[in-house]
Amino acid sequence: MTRTRTAIRGGLVITAADELHADVLIEDGRIAALAAHGSDAAAWETERSLDATGKYVIPGGVDAHTHMDFPFGGTFSSDDFATGTKAAAWGGTTTIVDFAVQTKGHPLREGLDHWHAKADAQCSVDYAFHMILSDVNEGTLKEMDLLVEEGITSFKLFMAYPGVFYSDDGQILRAMQRTAANGGLIMMHAENGIAIDVLVEQALAAGRTDPRHHGEVRRALLEAEATHRAIQLARVAGSPLYVVHVSAEEAVAELSQARRLGLPVFGETCPQYLFLSTDNLAEPDFEGAKYVCSTPLRPREHQAALWRGLRTNDLQVVSTDHCPFCFSGQKELGRGDFSKIPNGMPGVEHRMDLLHQAVLEGHIGRRRWIEIACATPARMFGLYPKKGTIAPGADADVVIYDPHAEQTLSADTHHMNVDYSAYEGKRITGQVETVLSRGETVIDRRTYTGRAGHGQYVPRGTCQLLG
Ligand code: URP
Ligand code: ZN
Ligand code: ZN
Ligand code: ZN
Repeated sequence: MTRTRTAIRGGLVITAADELHADVLIEDGRIAALAAHGSDAAAWETERSLDATGKYVIPGGVDAHTHMDFPFGGTFSSDDFATGTKAAAWGGTTTIVDFAVQTKGHPLREGLDHWHAKADAQCSVDYAFHMILSDVNEGTLKEMDLLVEEGITSFKLFMAYPGVFYSDDGQILRAMQRTAANGGLIMMHAENGIAIDVLVEQALAAGRTDPRHHGEVRRALLEAEATHRAIQLARVAGSPLYVVHVSAEEAVAELSQARRLGLPVFGETCPQYLFLSTDNLAEPDFEGAKYVCSTPLRPREHQAALWRGLRTNDLQVVSTDHCPFCFSGQKELGRGDFSKIPNGMPGVEHRMDLLHQAVLEGHIGRRRWIEIACATPARMFGLYPKKGTIAPGADADVVIYDPHAEQTLSADTHHMNVDYSAYEGKRITGQVETVLSRGETVIDRRTYTGRAGHGQYVPRGTCQLLG
């Protein structure tokens, strides 16, 4: 490796813990030092100096929930690892944790190998994997131990999607018991899928086939019920629990109650639940299909509880659940039957910007922005302090962020491989200017300078928020 020394000078360094008017020295792909403007930093001899005057210098984002090239509803999400990680870089995200999928009846190992084949040599930024368990049995339970040792330390289970990814309560309990012993973390898709399927069948039989009915049948109470049940099962197993894509106020209440009891229960929400609502699902001419994801978008009134949860730390992480499907040819599979609309929305490019907008709107503070988008996801999934902060020894995954730049989100200008934007026309103040990944410039003043294959696979440790 070349011993290139880079200094980022003049910016305001923001981490989850501090705001410092400091220069940052980068050497061999890592942060080497921080020093107050004009102090020791003046003497640094460097080959390269980046001017961050008037800008923020923040850790690269850690998006702990993406689905690149993900099979769902007879099709695949439209971003692969090449296009999706490039879009991530554009949006200031320098690490993704994607979900490798176990095919029912096949070993976890096979699913993992398959995910490496999709991702290796394709990524512009660093990547790690969780594992989706489609099939909890003696064999896969044993394999979980091996995976934890190798750096796949989290496992997603589904209480939704009977016949596809669904696990019953017995399977969930067994998997939780296993992670209680091996140090892994269960990530739960908490919706009562058995009850939802009854409501889906009844809605379709009554001719209620439009996208908005997707939101209506996936009742908030059925998210809350599943969240409650998952928490109780985790208590019985003595395991920690991470609930993904929390959208309902009633589910946040379940998490708050568990945390008041001191239980190791964590929650994630996503920008779509913070900024969009059932109003979008109700857009005419099948446009609502663009917003079909599960858990579903909720009535706008739920948003206050999500923001409150993020402020009180009853919710700890904002990830995107990036799972794009083109409107043309993919979302359209569900015309006349909302249950056939592939579930998922694009977002990997916009998380850092949308959350900066939330800072400007007074929902969260600046350090909390970095905490929920960088530091805590890194800690939650065993990547800290390599990822998620700016400190000596950390990977030099650094974003120079212009807090005053104005932009308008649009499918015409985004870099995700999808033919619509869920935020078309939304005005944002703040924009990623330059992005370094392990010291290499991947976005240079709004020009992509990265390459597929720069991104490295990162094996993870266990959750760093326990004990
Ligand atoms: O609708 C969604 N969220 N699609 C991706 C799969 C999942 O459940 O996270
Ligand atoms: Zn300064
Ligand atoms: Zn899910
Ligand atoms: Zn997901």
